[in-house]
Amino acid sequence: MASGPEESGRERIVQASSPSNDADKLAGDQALEERAQDMTSNEEIAAKARSKDLRPHRFQDYVGQRAVVDSISIAVMAAKKRGDTLDHALFHGPPGLGKTTISQIIARELDSQLIHTSGPALERPADVVGLLSNLKTGDVLFIDEIHRLSHAVEEYLYSAMEDFRVDFMTGAGAFAKSINLPLQPFTLIGSTTRAGMLSAPLRERFGLAYHLDFYSTEELARVVTRSAGILEVDVSESGAHEIARRSRGTPRISNRLLRRVRDFAEVRNSGTITDAVAAEAMEIEGVDALGLDRLDRLYLMTLSKNYQGGPAGIQALAATINEDQQTLEDVVEPFLLKIGFMIRTPQGRRTTADGFEHIGLPPRLDGPTGQGTLL
Ligand SMILES: Nc1ncnc2c1ncn2[C@@H]1O[C@H](COP(=O)(O)OP(=O)(O)OP(=O)(O)O)[C@@H](O)[C@H]1O
Ligand SMILES: [Mg+2]
Repeated sequence: MASGPEESGRERIVQASSPSNDADKLAGDQALEERAQDMTSNEEIAAKARSKDLRPHRFQDYVGQRAVVDSISIAVMAAKKRGDTLDHALFHGPPGLGKTTISQIIARELDSQLIHTSGPALERPADVVGLLSNLKTGDVLFIDEIHRLSHAVEEYLYSAMEDFRVDFMTGAGAFAKSINLPLQPFTLIGSTTRAGMLSAPLRERFGLAYHLDFYSTEELARVVTRSAGILEVDVSESGAHEIARRSRGTPRISNRLLRRVRDFAEVRNSGTITDAVAAEAMEIEGVDALGLDRLDRLYLMTLSKNYQGGPAGIQALAATINEDQQTLEDVVEPFLLKIGFMIRTPQGRRTTADGFEHIGLPPRLDGPTGQGTLL
């Protein structure tokens, strides 16, 4: 049989490969195959993680915050009906209460594109002008930590929010020129843990402003049950309540604790989360019956013991605990204030009688009246 050029070609290749080359090729093929397998398993892991996204995507899945959801969903529906853009909206409140989540829901319910940025990321005026000029009609611009915008950047937002235009200068000296750039109508959503740090002109430009408050145990139990369903974890009603009770009124903490308790239940128990399993797992995590973690207790102990229950300044407390002042103000204090374990006075922070009791210290007898310090 006459061997065609193709066949001889193939033969040549086969001949050209020495035994050691063959081994190399095999090893190479194997590596490629393993890499391909790795990629699929990475993709699988990524897909799995995505499918276990715990963020609610629609208003009806957003647990609690009824007054806020009712108001904002009416504003969204009205804007859609009119074919108009939604007013600019501001969400403020402690970390982990759902500010980012509700902003994403709003964009989805409006069928709009969400552009996500943050105060510290918008360093120069050019950044914000670039971002604003690229917005399309109806886009939602989400600025996280909006209290951290620089003053120069903030000034560009004023005319952008009010009149959908920005004025900026190009060139320098004799070539300097003022440019007035019209923008497409858009909605700005700002999120902050520090509403007090926003300047009055910026705050006033939000047509809608909402404070998110801590969640009730009942609401957090619903968050836990919903998340357990997504994570395919078996949790009893009392187990969900136990996690909820220790979540410091915060859904992000509920979800984090649920994951830790799940690990514990899978390793030490049958996998089902009961109240006893949840309580044991959270004690190991250093989360006490009221949900206070190590930092909360360290704060309370320092204020109550080192400073005899205060009054103590936040800077002094931060230095003693060796913790960032902002973390104490944003994360630790709001919940301790909420449950009445401390108060803020013009002279400084003070522990209340309940606060002393929780850490097992006798209350001070020379405290001011009110809030139970004397009791
Ligand atoms: N109302 C809610 N219902 C169900 N889950 C919620 C709700 N609010 C928040 N969560 C869950 O808590 C997590 C944290 O919420 P989110 O990131 O929106 O908080 P945040 O207020 O933006 O916090 P930060 O101030 O730290 O940015 C979300 O991933 C979501 O799973
Ligand atoms: Mg957020």
